[in-house]
Amino acid sequence: MTGLSDPVVQDDPFEYYAAQMARCPVWHEADIGQWVIAGLEEVREVLMDVNTYSSEPARARRANPAMLAYQQVLEQRGWPRQSTLQRTDPPVHTRYRKLVNRVFTPAVVRQFTPQLDDIVNDLADRIEAAGTCDFVADFALPLPGIFIAEQLGLDRTDYRRFRRWADAMLASANRPLTVDEAVTEAEIELEAQHFLAAEFDKRRAAPGNDLISLLVHAHDEDEQPFTMAELQDLMHQLITGGFETTTAALSTAMWLLVRYPDQQALLRARPDLLPNFIEEVLRFDAPVQGLWRQTTCPAEVAGTTIPEHATVMVRFGAANRDPRVFDDPDRFDITRVNARNHAAFGFGVHFCPGAALARQEMHRAFTILLDRFDRFELAGDLPAPVHEPSIFLRPMKQLPIRMLRR
Ligand code: HEM
Repeated sequence: MTGLSDPVVQDDPFEYYAAQMARCPVWHEADIGQWVIAGLEEVREVLMDVNTYSSEPARARRANPAMLAYQQVLEQRGWPRQSTLQRTDPPVHTRYRKLVNRVFTPAVVRQFTPQLDDIVNDLADRIEAAGTCDFVADFALPLPGIFIAEQLGLDRTDYRRFRRWADAMLASANRPLTVDEAVTEAEIELEAQHFLAAEFDKRRAAPGNDLISLLVHAHDEDEQPFTMAELQDLMHQLITGGFETTTAALSTAMWLLVRYPDQQALLRARPDLLPNFIEEVLRFDAPVQGLWRQTTCPAEVAGTTIPEHATVMVRFGAANRDPRVFDDPDRFDITRVNARNHAAFGFGVHFCPGAALARQEMHRAFTILLDRFDRFELAGDLPAPVHEPSIFLRPMKQLPIRMLRR
């Protein structure tokens, strides 16, 4: 078995994690030249130490010709990528985070429930009429996609336009691009930037009850509001951070229910287990398998020395199967008492600010689907491999599902 750059390992990485973890929770992955941190406590240790492990993008990546071409398109005709939030360290990060935290409060998330229920019911109506669906294309993509698109002021039917923007924004993270590909993707992002700029201006003048208005107005009396370049980068992060991740979580949740019919039956008999089911899904198959940091000085984790200026990948997906924390970690068990101790949303100052929203999307989706349908089952073969190749995300290609009523 090769390593994490191998699409076969990416599709089902858990055996590889277990074999590596049995030797050490930290290792050097030679073919990608990165250090992998796979133990739960080790992942936490790295993420809590922002002085040693920086979130600022590696200079090598910024100087890559494709990324330079991408940036040039945005600089010349839009807004240059300015590092905010996830791509910064404290104290710069602290200001962004304080304002973003103000936007994603539990009260704000609760307020989205009717909108989410409306989207879920609308999608469920179509699935019910058809009897079968591709759960990825017909539910898991449109739910978070329509939600964010509507927050942006787009029409529900226009969410495909939004999807094109989101795909372009994610392209360079998912795979290496040629210069020509980078320019094509940047042109699409440029279209999104101009649409967003007009929406930011509208909300500045007349705030509404949506995420954009909250972001545009998220500042103290004595503080500067976000600039247009900052708003563009924050929206980029909300779109890239909130869309494909939630799609993966929803698809995986459904896949696990049909893979483990005993757990589906248990969840139907005991709906009070729904919150724990959601946590166990996020633990069992983390939507973000790994993310990166750069060392600012030589460091030591689990007795392994990592040099200065090295790229470190914290592997949430492996940490969630750490046998030192989770008993029988490869068993999908919706009654697991410590399921919520998973690392799927990260740790420390960058802990996912969208976690409550993602949980709410999953909660509304499965509350309504479990209520409206009496059984979910596979309606065909899954593609092989099951996931699109990605070193850090879990995009399922397709999930043919039949939803039965009594
Ligand atoms: C199941 C769905 C989701 C998963 C698994 C997930 C996972 C993560 C993880 C692991 C991080 C930590 C990044 C780091 O340490 O560098 C993170 C950060 C972030 N997430 Fe999420 N996320 C999800 C949904 C969302 C949603 C719905 C939004 C917004 C609408 C969102 C927006 C963000 C942003 C803006 C950050 C950066 C925060 C910072 O740097 O302070 N995420 N997410």
